[in-house]
Amino acid sequence: MSSDNIASVLTENRVFPPPAEFAARARLNAEKLAALHAEAQADHTGFWAGLAKKNLGWQTPFTQVLDDSAAPNYRWFTDGKLNASANCLDRHLLARGDKIAIRFEGEKGDTRNYTYKQLHAEVCKLANVLKAQGVNKGDRVVIYMPMAPEAVIAMQACARIGAIHSVVFGGFSASSLKDRIEDTGARLLITADGGHRAGNIVPLKKVADEALAAGCKTIGKVIVHQRTSHGVDMQAGRDLWWHELMDTASERCEPEWVESEHPLFLLYTSGSTGKPKGIQHSTGGYLLGATMTTQWVFDIRDDDVFWCTADVGWITGHSYVAYGPLANGATILMYEGAPTIPDAGRFWKICQDHGVTIFYTAPTAIRALMKLGEEWPNKYDLSKLRLLGSVGEPINPEAWMWYHRVIGKERLPIVDTWWQTETGAIMIAPVPGAITTKPGSCTKPLPGICVEVVDEAGTPIREQDAGGYLVVSKPWPSMLRTVWGDNERYIKTYWGQFQNKYYVAGDSTHRDADGCYWIMGRVDDVLNVSGHRLGTMEVESALVSHPRIAEAAVVGRPHEVKGESVFAFVIAKGPRPTGEEADKLAKELRDHVAKEIGALAKPDDIRFADNLPKTRSGKIMRRLLRSIAKGEEITQDTSTLENPAIVAQLSGKA
Ligand code: PRX
Repeated sequence: MSSDNIASVLTENRVFPPPAEFAARARLNAEKLAALHAEAQADHTGFWAGLAKKNLGWQTPFTQVLDDSAAPNYRWFTDGKLNASANCLDRHLLARGDKIAIRFEGEKGDTRNYTYKQLHAEVCKLANVLKAQGVNKGDRVVIYMPMAPEAVIAMQACARIGAIHSVVFGGFSASSLKDRIEDTGARLLITADGGHRAGNIVPLKKVADEALAAGCKTIGKVIVHQRTSHGVDMQAGRDLWWHELMDTASERCEPEWVESEHPLFLLYTSGSTGKPKGIQHSTGGYLLGATMTTQWVFDIRDDDVFWCTADVGWITGHSYVAYGPLANGATILMYEGAPTIPDAGRFWKICQDHGVTIFYTAPTAIRALMKLGEEWPNKYDLSKLRLLGSVGEPINPEAWMWYHRVIGKERLPIVDTWWQTETGAIMIAPVPGAITTKPGSCTKPLPGICVEVVDEAGTPIREQDAGGYLVVSKPWPSMLRTVWGDNERYIKTYWGQFQNKYYVAGDSTHRDADGCYWIMGRVDDVLNVSGHRLGTMEVESALVSHPRIAEAAVVGRPHEVKGESVFAFVIAKGPRPTGEEADKLAKELRDHVAKEIGALAKPDDIRFADNLPKTRSGKIMRRLLRSIAKGEEITQDTSTLENPAIVAQLSGKA
């Protein structure tokens, strides 16, 4: 978060109590929420056990709640058996079989609905297809799909047979897809011929072919959903059309009952070091987190139409598209496409046309739509909306107030939800019928979530109105279980800093005098670009893999819409490029990064220099680079630099 934003959140003092009308009908009012907190405080594991029994369907009930014998590898509900897809689908067939589970709209305006019965049938059919292709319990299946119902069907079908899915966001490049496939050791890939985005076709199959040509030896079969019908190569013996396989598949498929700890999915995310890591989530604990938070934070009701705009390639799309709302028998909306096609009113038109009641998006989208002007939302009837949400990055008070005033018409609660790929579900957020909100604060931890602010030494800061590292002091059911294939990395990354005592989120936070949290951003070398996590090292490795580049250092620069943008300082081999040559190489490097990682990692700024600012021990002074990227006057002591003269050049002044 930029220093301007930090200053503006820390001086923010507007408060918004829960609207009376909302609180009166809410699942949780202040009194009920207080009772939940009291229960959790009195008996942490008993609290979660009670919820797990009441809110999930178990084939074999659990008797052990938390196994901490191998901490910090915690295990929850260990001897219980369940199935995530049975919980999301079968459980609702009797009471809600004809209720719509998914409403879908494509970018071109095509729509499709699935009732719970229909979704169940499709999931069973695909589960049978997967089995027929030799996919067994515990096998990994990579899903590289557009944001269409088939993506959810694929995830649910894997869950149904106990296969572990790993969804790769459709914006990732062949090289990123290959790395992820290889790390999972998947035996099957589910993709589509293409997806629609901003009037273009996203050539998913073509990218997948490139990834497979470069390696991925474990992949035996590729199932291809036909979405764009633009004509793709199908490799005989390997590639199979989804619709052909589904045509003859049976609609009956008994769920595979798995142990609560059985991995439900792997999802890759960026850290400060090395390649992205496969965050491993469990079945029982994860599903409980997704289920409860959908009730507590989104106040989900039977008549809601819940639209979470996140792609299923991110954790938000897992917990609040594919699992949480379906586990609660809710209706979700899925939209495949860009928010501004054909015009800046698209999101609001969708809200109107589908009667969306709960809308959950990222601050970057709010800021982008805010810039386009309030005449766009004002054209549409948004009166069905009753709750707004935000996720993925700090929301600046200005964007919060716009959301509140223009979209919420000053009557809707806003839930700013803090959580991570690793936490599986929302951790800190206002319960909308109970908690007074403040623009820019995610307010307070949810029941059963024990958060602390600690100093450098790991000592909890008890006084209010203080800042420090955000940590979690007790295990929670939806927490990550490990890093796939690298448990040591799990322990070191998340627990090492404070001797296995706390889960370290990697964010810094301020807690105000009311006990509300204000997330300040990452404390490690992780950037948050449009709500997407990017490791600076990943972008640096991509840059230096270009034959003309010797060295690179990447930092974040505050960006009005994206939150942060990628700023790269680059040292070319040979003389420093200038003028036209520099422009040409910069373009080439941007395309190269898009090819190596994906378009989301493209640097907005590339500055060529003869050298990076290094201390005599060879350490790059990143703090200095961050100041330069922001265009700040350099007031830092540069005397420890090996090459202090470089500062002027890096600043673009020489
Ligand atoms: O820095 C925090 C930021 O996003 C990071 C987690 O990113 P990811 O695993 O991709 O998950 C994003 C969606 C859950 C966090 O470490 N972050 C997420 N939500 C918020 C946030 N920062 C401030 N406020 C939030 N509401």
